[in-house]
Amino acid sequence: MTDKRARLTVDGLEAPIDLAIHSSSVGPDVIDVSGLTKKGYFTYDPGFMSTAPCESKITYIDGGKGVLLHRGYPIDQLAEHSDYMEVCYLLLNGELPTDAQKKAFSDAVMANAKVDPSVANLIKSFARDAHPMAIMGSAINALAAVYNNDIDISKEEDRLQTAYRLIGQVPTLAAMAYKHSKGEAFIEPDASLSYAENFLHMTFGKAGEKPNVKPVLAKAVDRLFILHADHEQNASTSTVRLSGSSGTNPFAAIAAGVATLWGPAHGGANEAVLNMLDEVGSVENIDKYVAKAKDKADPFRLMGFGHRVYKNFDPRAKVMKVACDEVLVELGKEDEPLLDIAKRLEKIALEDDYFIQKKLYPNVDFYSGIIMKAMEIPTEMFTVMFTLGRAVGWYSHWNEMVSAPYKIGRPRQLYTGYTQRDYPQK
Ligand code: ACO
Repeated sequence: MTDKRARLTVDGLEAPIDLAIHSSSVGPDVIDVSGLTKKGYFTYDPGFMSTAPCESKITYIDGGKGVLLHRGYPIDQLAEHSDYMEVCYLLLNGELPTDAQKKAFSDAVMANAKVDPSVANLIKSFARDAHPMAIMGSAINALAAVYNNDIDISKEEDRLQTAYRLIGQVPTLAAMAYKHSKGEAFIEPDASLSYAENFLHMTFGKAGEKPNVKPVLAKAVDRLFILHADHEQNASTSTVRLSGSSGTNPFAAIAAGVATLWGPAHGGANEAVLNMLDEVGSVENIDKYVAKAKDKADPFRLMGFGHRVYKNFDPRAKVMKVACDEVLVELGKEDEPLLDIAKRLEKIALEDDYFIQKKLYPNVDFYSGIIMKAMEIPTEMFTVMFTLGRAVGWYSHWNEMVSAPYKIGRPRQLYTGYTQRDYPQK
């Protein structure tokens, strides 16, 4: 709390409403409007453009400057020096681990990577062409059936066990969803591999064959997971917090986050980017699609451009762009026609007045789609990859919320419907 106060003058009220101001450690201070209801008012903020629904110590974003910090550490430094297991530990615990802490964490995650047969059977019951995000949401929700009676969310050790199970099993579920779509046998997790290697082995390996994962791919996937690990109160994380605020099973709350992430305005954008590039088809058509994106009468948007918070280059996109260039060279794919369209589109959009004025920069999904395409990850698995990385962020926010006193999330509304009227007599 600061000494500063805000005063809200409302026509018809005798005295201004006095509002406390909370100070952030960095970033804008926050006016506390929670007491307004006692004065007979709600605040109106569609899309939560100006609303901070919670206090958090996990991630800080300055969208104007293009800054993203996890527990204070800049994302580019984490992407360069850290790995995903370490970033998970950092998000969960607030500090970087010692070598021994990191090993113990990683071992516990891998020890929990096996999935209950009931969930494996559920995955097998889906149509082969079911979207893997639908399977992921259902499978994570099914973990709530497996882990319900033995979870007391008020106990720290139960919550920690939930983290191990979630982070351990999400890659296994993702690999199963992929294998099921191909009609191939599931592959058991291999605890001797790194987190990213294990995922790639379970997904693209063959049952009964030795793991054979290209180090360049494992490194790229690990970095992809780091870049997606958390992003403060985005739509899916806010969903997990809101859902979890009812005291529901954590896996059920996280399944709600998966549903939100799937949408093309959020995590589904990476898949939408590739579909858009396919639709554009050739560099000759780029101008036409840029014109469509600028036309107010046309609902078409350039997927992978723009962000609610970043009005500058998305710092994750900067790292992803470098990684993307490296991976394309290492895989000998710099000249792929689709990637050529992407690069030209990026250049044109960055130089176009419409995009400059509206501050629409390429976001992380623009480059992650391209990188995953180069790695031959199927397009419909793109948002699943985002889910894998983000699982730790969802968990960390849920855990932060339930570790302290919290209220059920219950927004209000500006009601503009009918006033009371009588049921017509026949
Ligand atoms: N292409 C063309 N115009 C755009 C785009 C775009 N990608 N994004 C925003 N605009 C325009 C809007 O038409 C609007 O114009 P107006 O002011 O003339 O009406 C203006 O820019 C502001 O757009 P809003 O939709 O109001 O911005 P908001 O913050 O609500 O939305 C969002 C952000 C959803 C990301 C939007 O930019 C978008 O739809 N982008 C494409 C989808 C995408 O890439 N999503 C991934 C987000 S990153 C992530 O989830 C990891």
